[in-house]
Amino acid sequence: MMKLFLHFSLFSSVFFFTAIVYGQNKYVGVRACRPCHATAKQGEQFPIWQKSAHARAYTTLTTSKADEIAKGIGFSVPAVEVVDCLTCHTVLADTKLLEKTFSVQDGVQCETCHGAGSAYKSMSIMKDHAKSVAAGMIEYIDEAAIEKQCRSCHNEKSPTYKEFKFKESWEKIKHPVPKSG
Ligand code: HEC
Ligand code: HEC
Ligand code: HEC
Ligand code: HEC
Repeated sequence: MMKLFLHFSLFSSVFFFTAIVYGQNKYVGVRACRPCHATAKQGEQFPIWQKSAHARAYTTLTTSKADEIAKGIGFSVPAVEVVDCLTCHTVLADTKLLEKTFSVQDGVQCETCHGAGSAYKSMSIMKDHAKSVAAGMIEYIDEAAIEKQCRSCHNEKSPTYKEFKFKESWEKIKHPVPKSG
């Protein structure tokens, strides 16, 4: 496993970009986000994610079906060891950028889409959108930007690619903060 992570920059321009811009920020893992993002009042981001296919994305790679797919395109190791598969099925980053609380088994997780969280996860930063962005939280300015992010994985490079219908898919996984008042 360790060896795989060292090769990440060759395969994933998204994470390479993250590494350049937010140099020292580390991935803290979903459980570090959970305390503040689980209740109905907060928008239940954690339970919504946990029920989604994204939470299972790594586990999927441990199945015999995944191994067959990997073998079919020429890989001689189990799918879970193939960097190409891991790139889209979890957060693939240099081990130096992973906090102890981070778990690769959690698949496509909060920080896959929102950026490494070590510098923005404190309450004082999180309450302030501009500060969060300055601390490395990825901002999506409009729906087109969100769709672009989805399509960085939901595309023909996926061996099991099915046509990606953005609006329907977003409905399934979106997790807004409820408007108060
Ligand atoms: C200490 C509590 C706390 C922790 C831990 C925390 N958050 Fe937050 N987060 C907040 C609060 C409070 C808000 C503001 C919610 C609102 O808009 O009312 C927020 C907002 C956000 C937003 C929307 C920000 C914006 O301005 O658009 C995102 C995205 C987010 N959090 C992601 C994460 C992720 C990912 C993690 C884990 C790496 C995390 N948070 C950990 C408290 C926290
Ligand atoms: C880092 C790669 C990655 C990104 C980015 C990503 N996904 Fe996924 N997504 C996956 C993988 C991998 C699966 C399959 C997980 C499994 O079944 O094990 C998946 C599955 C899904 C599913 C369930 C299967 C389906 O097609 O109905 C939905 C819905 C979904 N993603 C929506 C989205 C949306 C919406 C976005 C953008 C906001 C997004 N995804 C961004 C990798 C990604
Ligand atoms: C470009 C991103 C990407 C890559 C690379 C990728 N996947 Fe996926 N994978 C996805 C997405 C997105 C989904 C869910 C939607 C879909 O199948 O289009 C998925 C779904 C799956 C599923 C569940 C399909 C089903 O119908 O149950 C398996 C199994 C799988 N991938 C195995 C692999 C294996 C093995 C590799 C490496 C050889 C791999 N994937 C590489 C993005 C990717
Ligand atoms: C597949 C990508 C993806 C995953 C995984 C994901 N998010 Fe998001 N999240 C988004 C997008 C896209 C938005 C909408 C744009 C925005 O508000 O930044 C969003 C919005 C949010 C918001 C702000 C909602 C609002 O109404 O302002 C919070 C808070 C948040 N996410 C927290 C989390 C947490 C916590 C996790 C993990 C438990 C998580 N997200 C997992 C993509 C994702």
